Amino acid sequence: MTVELCGIALEHPVINASGTFDAIAARRVFGAELIERFPFAAFVSKTVTLAPRQGNPPPRLWETGSGLINSIGLPTKGLEGYLGEDLPELAELPVPLIVNVMGFTPAEVGELIRAFADRPEVTALELNVSCPNVETGLVMGADPRELSALLERVRPLTDKPLIVKLSPNATDVPAVARAAERAGASAVSLINTLRGMALHPRSGAPWLGGGGGGVSGPAVRSVALAQVYAVAEAVEIPVIGMGGVQRGQDALDLLRAGATLVAVGTENFRDPAAASRITAELSALHGNSAPELT
Ligand SMILES: Cc1cc2nc3c(=O)[nH]c(=O)nc-3n(C[C@H](O)[C@H](O)[C@H](O)COP(=O)(O)O)c2cc1C
Repeated sequence: MTVELCGIALEHPVINASGTFDAIAARRVFGAELIERFPFAAFVSKTVTLAPRQGNPPPRLWETGSGLINSIGLPTKGLEGYLGEDLPELAELPVPLIVNVMGFTPAEVGELIRAFADRPEVTALELNVSCPNVETGLVMGADPRELSALLERVRPLTDKPLIVKLSPNATDVPAVARAAERAGASAVSLINTLRGMALHPRSGAPWLGGGGGGVSGPAVRSVALAQVYAVAEAVEIPVIGMGGVQRGQDALDLLRAGATLVAVGTENFRDPAAASRITAELSALHGNSAPELT
């Protein structure tokens, strides 16, 4: 089931969704077996920000009937910590590394992209644009003009493939995707989590430490399918589809909707080997004839 994304040859079309698989911790637990039987065709790191972040206060998770609401709040070691501690370990993974970055101003995004632009360990960059630009208050990935302005500034900073991870919390996601394509994105990925919240069952106060959170898992699968379908019709660049993938059939649906790759997210928390099972199921469904996938 080999597949190509922006010139990167991959063994199969299943990767991880950012922030849902800690490869460094998994290697501590599973050792060499993780490297020998790595479940993903490429590894996407958790979002890296310029400065270290604590993330949101607990509680950070709420389980819904069919998924999760998370208010993790992007805790990170910051760029320096990532470069010094995580990157050397992630570079040992047996698959291409995609680093996911997020900045709160275009200048911050530029600094992050510059930091990875010439790193040989990094195959591609994924730009998480689901946060507000603190200078304008607009969510960078929810507004086509905001996103165009950002990409026009940062796209020239690297020759590496730049994947723009779109926010599903936008009025017109295909319009944002088209803006990304016009401004030089190499690919788009979607969906990120949908805004949601839960209330404490007795007090009625917001349950999550961050107030609200992001909904993911099977609950968002049909939304993901609709958005991937609409975006794949709107752009020529490759689309990476994700949202609620639990089985080979879910992955096949996203591929049939126009995705080139599929990412597994929340399902990794239930079963760290889920992606291997999903890839095997996909292969069986598909009779091992990759060209029909895209
Ligand atoms: C606990 C958790 C942490 C996440 N962290 C990140 C992150 O750091 N960066 C990012 O771009 N997306 C992050 N996401 C979003 C996922 O990458 C993915 O877009 C979303 O969860 C939909 O896929 P799923 O339904 O398969 O989980 C996170 C999702 C979860 C559940």
